[in-house]
Amino acid sequence: MDIFCPQVKPYECVNLKRVQFWLRIMKEHALFMKLGFACSDEELICQAENFYNEFAALEKKSHAIRCDEELMEFVECIMLAVKNIFAFKRHVLHLIIHCEIGGYNYPLLIDHISREAMYFYKLLGKMREGDMKYPVDSIVSDNVFWLRHMSEHARFIVGLLDPSERGFVEQANNFAVQFEQLQLQARDLDSMLWHSCPNNDLVRFEKDVTTATNQIRDFKKAARDLIAACKVISLIPPLLADHVLREAEYFLDVLEVIQQDLQCMEPQPIQTCDY
Ligand SMILES: [Fe+2]
Ligand SMILES: [Fe+2]
Repeated sequence: MDIFCPQVKPYECVNLKRVQFWLRIMKEHALFMKLGFACSDEELICQAENFYNEFAALEKKSHAIRCDEELMEFVECIMLAVKNIFAFKRHVLHLIIHCEIGGYNYPLLIDHISREAMYFYKLLGKMREGDMKYPVDSIVSDNVFWLRHMSEHARFIVGLLDPSERGFVEQANNFAVQFEQLQLQARDLDSMLWHSCPNNDLVRFEKDVTTATNQIRDFKKAARDLIAACKVISLIPPLLADHVLREAEYFLDVLEVIQQDLQCMEPQPIQTCDY
């Protein structure tokens, strides 16, 4: 060990953390898909395994990134992998909904994880262009995306809990309804505020969304801990419980950035303005 070498501080940046977050998510999607295929679908199992290994290797590689230039080169190189896993998910979804394969993957879950791959792909495109700000259109469309995903997580939890867990099933159902309503409200704002300045209604809405997301994050955290301690009866693997918890935490980070961006914009009554 060279004692004269100054200690190298690990390279830290928000974009690298986001990339690492999504690489892990993509890796886990490959595993969940693999576990849900019928044993006879050996080719699909093998493809899912290959994706798992590819994203595990990329995740490992991401920890060696030391500067912005290396991150940009890395972003270029992972875009193809993300595009390929997106195409694989859409292919599997097609096979399921046309009854060409069986297994235990809910079609909506495959659709859900394909949307997450596309979200990651678009995020990489934005990083490449250096465009990470949230104008109003993108604030609202990000809300629509994440609110839909929070409500679907609640629906998947309902579908995988043992029916005897009546209390949890009811709580998860309530979250599903709450987030579906927020998603509808986000869609209303999407059309009302299209190409507009932010208004006070949007600011209030973002606060409501943050409150609800904190609540579902707490619920998922409690569920994750109970599942890990074998204190709740369900078909939910502990890793899946942790996966949906991390996605709620990521949404809370997105909401924080949105709140900061909104503070920099002047809230106005609904009217069009130039961006
Ligand atoms: Fe996911
Ligand atoms: Fe998700």
